[in-house]
Amino acid sequence: MLKVERLHTYYGESHILQGVDVCVATAQCVAVLGRNGAGKTTTLRSILGLTPARRGRVEFNGVDITRLPTHRIVKSGIAFVPEDRGIFPTVTVEEHLAIAYGASRRRPGRKPVEQVFEIFPRLAERRRSLGGQLSGGEQQMLAIGRALVAGPDLMILDEPSEGLAPVIIERLEAVLKDVKASGTAILLVEQNYHLATRLADYVYVLCQGRVEFAGATQSLIANGDVRRTYLSV
Ligand SMILES: Nc1ncnc2c1ncn2[C@@H]1O[C@H](COP(=O)(O)OP(=O)(O)OP(=O)(O)O)[C@@H](O)[C@H]1O
Ligand SMILES: [Mg+2]
Repeated sequence: MLKVERLHTYYGESHILQGVDVCVATAQCVAVLGRNGAGKTTTLRSILGLTPARRGRVEFNGVDITRLPTHRIVKSGIAFVPEDRGIFPTVTVEEHLAIAYGASRRRPGRKPVEQVFEIFPRLAERRRSLGGQLSGGEQQMLAIGRALVAGPDLMILDEPSEGLAPVIIERLEAVLKDVKASGTAILLVEQNYHLATRLADYVYVLCQGRVEFAGATQSLIANGDVRRTYLSV
């Protein structure tokens, strides 16, 4: 479904991604792991056209999206949950979801807002609260809910567990398992090795803008050298 080939991405003169390849199959969950500064967020930004790659190719559902503007990429069926969650402090929970739903009106698989409230009962209770009044966990759920209303073929998340309490991370894990079970593919960037390996079918390990390991999750778990060298676990 998503095929990323030989991406080279720069910030000014800094050559950050040095030929990154990533593939995600339909309904698969793929994790990208690596230390701080490895290039994980940059990989996502390149896929989404936020920091377009200078060289390389991104194909989604058979279409070359490498040079498309971000709004077109999103419309083609990719939803992004950024690291900062992107919640507006003065907009209510309900409005966040309604706006995202309205913006995705061309997507057949989009989910009505009420369906998101069934998945996240806590958001239903907080439907008239402002984004700025939510806890970190509630903001993360809202960010995922906003991605879900669009009915994406692929959901991309950047460190969704960051800063969340263990009980909220458990809830997040259950929700992402349901998202996958419903047929949506997931591309997940995580620092939380244990969460990532519980969710993912396939794993890429990045270091200094290169893929140093790619394989089934079980083969990473079995590979102590890669884990110690690149992930310190
Ligand atoms: N806007 C920017 N301008 C210049 N350099 C940047 C910029 N953003 C990131 N970098 C550099 O690019 C490299 C990769 O950063 P990136 O944010 O992709 O890493 P990451 O794997 O997501 O790390 P983290 O786990 O800390 O989020 C780092 O060396 C970083 O300092
Ligand atoms: Mg990052």
